[in-house]
Amino acid sequence: MTALTLSTAAAPGLRADAIVIGVAKGADGPVVAPGAEAVDKAYDGRLAGVLETLGAAGAEGEVTKLPAPAGFKTPLVLAVGLGAEPEKDASYDAEALRRAAGVAARALAGSKKAAFALPLTDAADLGAVAEGVALGAYSFDAYKEQGKEAKAKKGKGPLVEATLLGAKPRDAAHKAALARATAVTEELNRARDLVNTPPNDLDPEAFAAVAQTAAKEHGIKVQVLDEKALTKGGYGGILGVGSGSAAAPRLVKLSYTSSKAKKHLAFVGKGITYDSGGISLKPAGHNETMKCDMSGAAAVFAAVVAVARLGLDVNVTGWLALAENMPSGSATRPGDVLRMFSGKTVEVLNTDAEGRLVLADALWAASQEKPDAIVDVATLTGAMMLALGSRTFGIMANDDAFRSALHEAAEEVGEPAWPMPLPDHLRKGMDSPIADIANMGERMGGGLVAGLFLREFVGEGITWAHLDIAGPAFNEGGPFGYTPKGGTGTAVRTLVRLAELTAEGDLG
Ligand code: BES
Ligand code: MN
Ligand code: ZN
Repeated sequence: MTALTLSTAAAPGLRADAIVIGVAKGADGPVVAPGAEAVDKAYDGRLAGVLETLGAAGAEGEVTKLPAPAGFKTPLVLAVGLGAEPEKDASYDAEALRRAAGVAARALAGSKKAAFALPLTDAADLGAVAEGVALGAYSFDAYKEQGKEAKAKKGKGPLVEATLLGAKPRDAAHKAALARATAVTEELNRARDLVNTPPNDLDPEAFAAVAQTAAKEHGIKVQVLDEKALTKGGYGGILGVGSGSAAAPRLVKLSYTSSKAKKHLAFVGKGITYDSGGISLKPAGHNETMKCDMSGAAAVFAAVVAVARLGLDVNVTGWLALAENMPSGSATRPGDVLRMFSGKTVEVLNTDAEGRLVLADALWAASQEKPDAIVDVATLTGAMMLALGSRTFGIMANDDAFRSALHEAAEEVGEPAWPMPLPDHLRKGMDSPIADIANMGERMGGGLVAGLFLREFVGEGITWAHLDIAGPAFNEGGPFGYTPKGGTGTAVRTLVRLAELTAEGDLG
């Protein structure tokens, strides 16, 4: 992780490999963003013109490098695009800052130290820049020949140290914003590591062990149900999905409690460490990235640990439904009927619709504690990707106000999301002639059908929302903003924000 510090030092005297400044798209060409005044002055106030000469427009994602002016102890100025300049008297959008900081951090891979002189109007902006740097600098090279440490030594690893200028190291609000950003991004990056870890090294047992270690470190109570305990408890959904694999399933319960808590949230994550589709095997071309099918569980795990590190005044229980979906002689067949933990029976028509089966058991388990609300997070359906694309997750809920609150929280932290309906008429497509419900329904609206299935396993009267992160969980394209290729850690920040709002009493 990139080390973050705050400083009020003036740019010219600062020793670093680069100084990062912001450039925005003004009405008549690029404009230098506030925070870079000292740098501009050293160019005799001609920096905007210099940038324009170099082809800079101030567009999002744009990076322009120029030599630092005479007298600077930093050789390089890196101007990063912020997009449109805000209206007069308005400040830069936190997400624009976050993304620009991420772009700059990526461009500085291989550098030791950089100073960030971006426009900060308050502690929230500082937090956004800190997040952008820490998330943008992420890299996963544990499996490269040389490994992370050797790379860092050779100078090719992620940016080692970042100093945020214009931030006060002794200001309580600034310190708190940095501490929050550090806790959240460290855990989020750990979720990315879990997603990126190949499935031969991260089976349900290995994932559970990681959760156990972290929970102990952060004062979180942890309970792991292994295959024996799951059998004894009657967790037919999790066992049915895991039965084809040589690696047995697990259900992990993480309990964070605060003595000042007035509310209790439950987070439930889909943790399919590899989704081959099972007997309804996925064709080649559809299974290469299916190690990402535990992204929901990784997000829940990271969020619970982050909440514990922040010491929020809310009780949060995390449930990780871990299984590997594989075909074999012991695998669940299309046509089998499973008896779920709730007592309901499910006719499995397609073993590739496995996420809803493990979630059903975990949702019912979470419901037994009667939390104030449950949020599940899952790479659940290809249909949600078709509907919303690869950067936006869908939000479904049994409560309109709660769905809106989650959408707002997501928006606030910079995670693109969109509300989706749960149309009752789609329920009858899952009627089974022999069981209480089938695990498949109409193809059209497949993401909503999955949501309707889950709703049946939420305890009576409990507020519940479902985040289908199939699109944004894994970035198959190139990196952008502070989002790397591969595991993204999507939903972690929305869950943490929800916990904060709940702790502050700003929610129901
Ligand atoms: N894990 C997949 C969904 C998925 C697809 C996630 C692409 C990320 C990227 C899920 O288990 C699945 O296979 N869903 C099926 C459901 C269908 C059989 C009803 C799907 O979406 O095709
Ligand atoms: Mn599947
Ligand atoms: Zn799946």
